[in-house]
Amino acid sequence: MDWVPLASLLLLLLLVPGVPSVPSQAGSRGYPQLHRKSQFTKPVCTQPVYNWCSSWENSRICETDKECSALWRTLDVPPVSVKLFYEALCPGCRSFLSMMLFPTWVLLGDNVMNVTLVPFGNAKETEVNGTWEFTCQHGELECELNMVQTCVLYLLGREFPNAFAVVNCMMSAADQENSLEPCLKIYVPDISVDDIMKCVTGPQGKKLMHENAMMTNHLSPPHTYTPWILVEESHLENPVELLDTVCHLYQGEVPDICKRNTFPIIR
Ligand SMILES: *[C@@H]1O[C@H](CO)[C@@H](O)[C@H](O)[C@H]1NC(C)=O
Ligand SMILES: *[C@@H]1O[C@H](CO)[C@@H](O)[C@H](O)[C@H]1NC(C)=O
Repeated sequence: MDWVPLASLLLLLLLVPGVPSVPSQAGSRGYPQLHRKSQFTKPVCTQPVYNWCSSWENSRICETDKECSALWRTLDVPPVSVKLFYEALCPGCRSFLSMMLFPTWVLLGDNVMNVTLVPFGNAKETEVNGTWEFTCQHGELECELNMVQTCVLYLLGREFPNAFAVVNCMMSAADQENSLEPCLKIYVPDISVDDIMKCVTGPQGKKLMHENAMMTNHLSPPHTYTPWILVEESHLENPVELLDTVCHLYQGEVPDICKRNTFPIIR
């Protein structure tokens, strides 16, 4: 990859005193706009990673043609189902989702792995005067965050990759309580916090959370802790085995990533 030395060279040039810097209006957001320098004219990949195989054009610009062709050859094979039953503030759920599930899904792709997220976990529901009330292991904030993520998943239903990116962004954030707005801005700028909050505070949110409760409470065998992971409806005891398990169960031609012995670090 030749962009690494080019980028460091450019950075060096900017740091050396006396070298003219980028015109100030180009950096209107306070960042030097490195990629606007005209002598480097490679097209810039402006798609999130999970979209690099969504079209031939994207895969070409993002330099993943080879990997994507391999994915497209196996489109007629059903993906392996992976379901995660979790709650927003449990540390094990946050680390599994952000450090295991999301990167594995990015590496394997939608065609190999079908992810279903069910935020509820160890929460409890009770019926009060005909509406559902929820109590959560980590308090009211967790109930609200579970609801926010449920509404994100519902409202972006047909764009699961975007919904998953927002949920991952929230779950990996230091301050999850204030993460919704910046996460939406990065991944789905056309959806506002208000759109999500309408669902969260209204009857729709309660209805969706009740569905999550039903799904969680009807697990067989029942879940005994969170995160509770099902691969093809079977409980996965050891989260570290996710990649190997999905690779093993996938009926199509496995991606190269499956042929490695350990969880790969990007080359
Ligand atoms: C992925 O899983 C969901 C939920 O189980 C299911 O409705 C959907 O059909 C699956 N998608 C594919 C492509 O298999
Ligand atoms: C249920 O509704 C009735 C009548 O509206 C009210 O008096 C009662 O306090 C409510 N119960 C609870 C637990 O909110």
